Amino acid sequence: MTSNKGKYAEFKQMMEQNGIELNLVLMSYPEEQLDTIEEVAERSLCYLKGIIKDDFFIDDSGLFIEQLKGFPGVYSSYVKRTLDNEGILRLMDSKINRKAEFKTCIAYYDGHLNLFTGVTRGYIAKEIKGKRGFGFDPIFIPENRKKTYAEMTLEEKNSISHRSKATLQFLNYLKKKKI
Ligand code: IMP
Repeated sequence: MTSNKGKYAEFKQMMEQNGIELNLVLMSYPEEQLDTIEEVAERSLCYLKGIIKDDFFIDDSGLFIEQLKGFPGVYSSYVKRTLDNEGILRLMDSKINRKAEFKTCIAYYDGHLNLFTGVTRGYIAKEIKGKRGFGFDPIFIPENRKKTYAEMTLEEKNSISHRSKATLQFLNYLKKKKI
């Protein structure tokens, strides 16, 4: 369940590769401002489980910049809408330490609450680069790469992304559940 078509495209590719068909519930929901993305995801799931009848999952993600003490973190959505990528680059202007990490928490409801997290470390680029993807993709360069997420194909991003690491755990859970 998401209103973000970029997230859905990534999940669709990864899940279909594993023989799982997704049904998108294109809907936004209130996100409480809590201290961690895990808490935000859990709270949203608890709210939604009263509304959605089938098993469902949501994704809460954030960009954490070391030099800014983890900002924007749980405020990523607000910061994307207000400062946007240009504003983040301005905050990072002349900063030598450009380390950052992207984190995803998948919250899955199947009668129980299940959380799966994935982290990808990297750097904040010096300029906006690339046209693909969404959100902070044009300013995030994963560790050991030269390109931003937005310069990568969907498959390439999915081979290293925070979201794909959380999805892998989610898929392992689903496989075990089936046995
Ligand atoms: P959300 O609260 O999980 O929707 O994400 C917070 C903010 O981070 C939103 O502005 C998203 O566009 C952005 N975001 C989430 N995941 C990614 C990603 O994989 N790449 C770039 N930006 C992302």
